[in-house]
Amino acid sequence: MKPVLTLITIAGMAMAAMPAHGEIINIATPSTSLVLDATQGQPLKIMHYGDRMTDADIDALPSAGSINLNAYPVYGLNPQGEAALSVTHTDGNRTTDLAVKGVTRTKDDGADITTVTMADTYYPLEVKVNYRTYPGDEVIETWVDITNNEKGKVTLNRFMSGYLPVRYGDVWMSSLYGTWADEANLTEEPLPHGVRMIKNKDGLRNTHTAHPEVMLSLDGKPRENNGRVIGAALCYPGNYKLFVDTDDSNFHHLFAGINEENSEYHLRKGETFSTPELALTYSREGLGGVSRNFHRWGRAHRLHAGDKERKVLLNSWEGVYFDINEEVMAGMMEDIASMGGELFVMDDGWFGDKYPRDVDNSSLGDWVVDTNKLPNGINGLLETARKNGVKFGIWIEPEMTNTVSELYEKHPEYIIKAPNREVVKGRGGTQLVLDMANPKVQDIVFQIVDTLMTKYPAIDYIKWDSNAPIMEHGSQYLTADEQSHLYIDYHKGLAKTLDRIRAAHPDVTIQACASGGGRANWGILPWFDEFWTSDNNDALQRVFMQWGTSYFYPAIAMGSHISASPNHQTFRRIPTKFRADVAMSGRLGLEMQPRDMNDEDKAICRQAIKDYKAIRPIVQFGDLYRLLSPYDRKGVASLMYVTPEKDDAVFYWWKIETFMGQQLPRVPMAGLDPDKTYRVTELNRIDNQPLPYEGKTFTGRYLMSNGLEMPLTYKVDYHKNTDYASRVLRLTAVD
Ligand code: GLA
Repeated sequence: MKPVLTLITIAGMAMAAMPAHGEIINIATPSTSLVLDATQGQPLKIMHYGDRMTDADIDALPSAGSINLNAYPVYGLNPQGEAALSVTHTDGNRTTDLAVKGVTRTKDDGADITTVTMADTYYPLEVKVNYRTYPGDEVIETWVDITNNEKGKVTLNRFMSGYLPVRYGDVWMSSLYGTWADEANLTEEPLPHGVRMIKNKDGLRNTHTAHPEVMLSLDGKPRENNGRVIGAALCYPGNYKLFVDTDDSNFHHLFAGINEENSEYHLRKGETFSTPELALTYSREGLGGVSRNFHRWGRAHRLHAGDKERKVLLNSWEGVYFDINEEVMAGMMEDIASMGGELFVMDDGWFGDKYPRDVDNSSLGDWVVDTNKLPNGINGLLETARKNGVKFGIWIEPEMTNTVSELYEKHPEYIIKAPNREVVKGRGGTQLVLDMANPKVQDIVFQIVDTLMTKYPAIDYIKWDSNAPIMEHGSQYLTADEQSHLYIDYHKGLAKTLDRIRAAHPDVTIQACASGGGRANWGILPWFDEFWTSDNNDALQRVFMQWGTSYFYPAIAMGSHISASPNHQTFRRIPTKFRADVAMSGRLGLEMQPRDMNDEDKAICRQAIKDYKAIRPIVQFGDLYRLLSPYDRKGVASLMYVTPEKDDAVFYWWKIETFMGQQLPRVPMAGLDPDKTYRVTELNRIDNQPLPYEGKTFTGRYLMSNGLEMPLTYKVDYHKNTDYASRVLRLTAVD
């Protein structure tokens, strides 16, 4: 018998009348559907997530054997499986039983939000499951609001952002792991029986060791440009837990949310707890399709100023470390200006009055200029920048202090510390974390940025660093009963502060750095314009790290700098040309002392900056097509960016191994229009003669089935030969 169902398509806005029961919701994006059964009085059920469904298919769905599992499983009744929510009610009851009360649809700043309100069948506890879509985008954001209307306090023991059942099969998970200076390594493995978990407990920096994002390839071993793939990204910069439980049912169960360990959250009567968003997407175009979905959505809706071109910069850190002074800064500004750069960023070491910051063991919190190093202060530097025609940026680490600082001397109560314990110290043996749960600390952090920007409105860029984890569990601000809120209230406080900062200073570019790539996270990017990808600038290792990062993040957000050779982390010697060719596949910058460069290196960088400016819109706003993975160990890695109109593209090819007699695969391109004709121009050319196809035209069809032959070496004077080779080609459509 045909079920009595009412179909509501959200993004398409095809809505029928709403009966008291049997409401089927189709949360649709241009090519995907999340189909839910929101029958009143029943738990919310998920029926389908994947390709967009027609109304007729949805009508017939129950007969096909749809998923039919609770969309937001709760703990207590039949508690054998994993749950997304676990609550201890006021009277001690640990069971929850939710039923749908109603569905609402709202518009928020152009987005469509569907909210399914559920309530416990006995206790006045309300749970709203929300889904947000943006017209034209393929991502569905989901999050949950939990409101306590019980007589007293309830405790949330687990409070995930979302749950997604995936039909059991040859499902592979792609995810990132790593460590400091080796972030975003890619791992791909079939889902095992049991639990595969990714987690973080750092407190602050949550993307060094692993990332709260995964891709699930539904058709066996992941492929780049075909196969069905689901992507999930938890948008949260704090402790997280993301796991897939493959049990004895027909499903792999994906859960993602805040890590609840040592973080049980108490809700007083009338209070609401909102989880961070989990962003879900689906593509039939393989891993690449999911990446492009995340990149487009991220630039349009999550990355601060995602539609604004990023400048080419020089950062002072690896050039001079703490040896900052006026003359050296002026020299660096002059040099980056002469190479065509647009911005100079003064890193760590410029501040501290009573305690000058000469090494990493003092002064955080004392954000006043060290006038011994900089007698004319920030204004003097801004004036030098203006004269050189570049913008000026500055490094701060606002969430931190040191035992050796005026801030700590005055306010020891502002730091994170447990009672009756020696304080645990970090970097330099003295670094401490300020307690962002404390509103007074929030004010201080707001004022650091507000004072800088008010006194020096010409500051164009802030590098916001964060170089410590939460090193002991204790808030001097929260009550004894609220100590378990520390990890979460830290991030609530940080979010509040960043909201205030952005309301007052919407235009300053802010980089999220956290000991390198510790904050490459969709949860922090609404306030930040980019992240520092890694403290490791070795171009060869960057090919791997940036490859992994590109699974979830667009090039515009990825700080990517040309640094010195030998490299300061790996001590590897890599020629400038290769270093430039790698750096210009992200947000290009330099991270070295230009005075140490010879004229030839400077000329290569000058050319790279010039060429990068020409392709910047393609790299920063284009669609990414990964062509040959460095992880496949074929001796070469290659990717390209293509404009949405497919009228301009840039192709990167990096040889990552060198042996005599080496045979390398020829790399077919992707993402072009087969029927368009493209002219090839090599960028960053160092060869004495152009490539044979320089200036020649080829159809997109030819390039996508054959690619172009890449010489394994450069044609340069004998003494300039190196063991590295790389190419960057621009492909411009001609009429
Ligand atoms: C961290 C950052 C570096 C640099 C130093 C300064 O390690 O990741 O880029 O800013 O701090 O102390």
